[in-house]
Amino acid sequence: MAFFKWNNTFSVGVASIDDQHKILINMINDFYDNLKNRTNNENISILINEMKKYAQFHFDYEESYMLKFNYQDFDLHQKQHHIFASKVKDFEEKFNNGTLILSFEITSFLKEWLKHHILVEDKKYTTFFIEKGVK
Ligand SMILES: [Fe+2]
Repeated sequence: MAFFKWNNTFSVGVASIDDQHKILINMINDFYDNLKNRTNNENISILINEMKKYAQFHFDYEESYMLKFNYQDFDLHQKQHHIFASKVKDFEEKFNNGTLILSFEITSFLKEWLKHHILVEDKKYTTFFIEKGVK
C-alpha cells in the first residue's frame, strides 16, 4: 500500500491542481520507497531536488491564479508556501553537505504538511477558483 494515497476528499475542485497534488503525493511516495529500500544518497538527492522544483512550479501556479483574481487570502497562503519551500531547501542543503540524514520523520513531515495544506488551506479557495472558471 502506498505511504500516501490521494482520494476524493483531497479534491480542490480544480482538475489541473488536483493533478499537481497527485504528482507531489507520488513524489513523497517515491521518497518513502527510496528510504525503505535504502537507495543510495545520490538518488535521494535527485528526488529532493525534483520535489523542490516541482513544489515551486505548483505554488507559482496556484499563486498566479490568486493574483490574477485578487484572492483575499493571498498573503497568508503565499507565506505558507514559502515556509514549505524553505524547509525543503534546507533539507536539500543539509542532506547534500552531509549534516542531515534523511529519515522517515522527514517523509512524515512532508506528508503531514501537504495533507494539512490541501485539506485545510487549499480547500479555502475551492469555491473562489471554481467561480472564476479555473479548470
Ligand atoms: Fe497551496
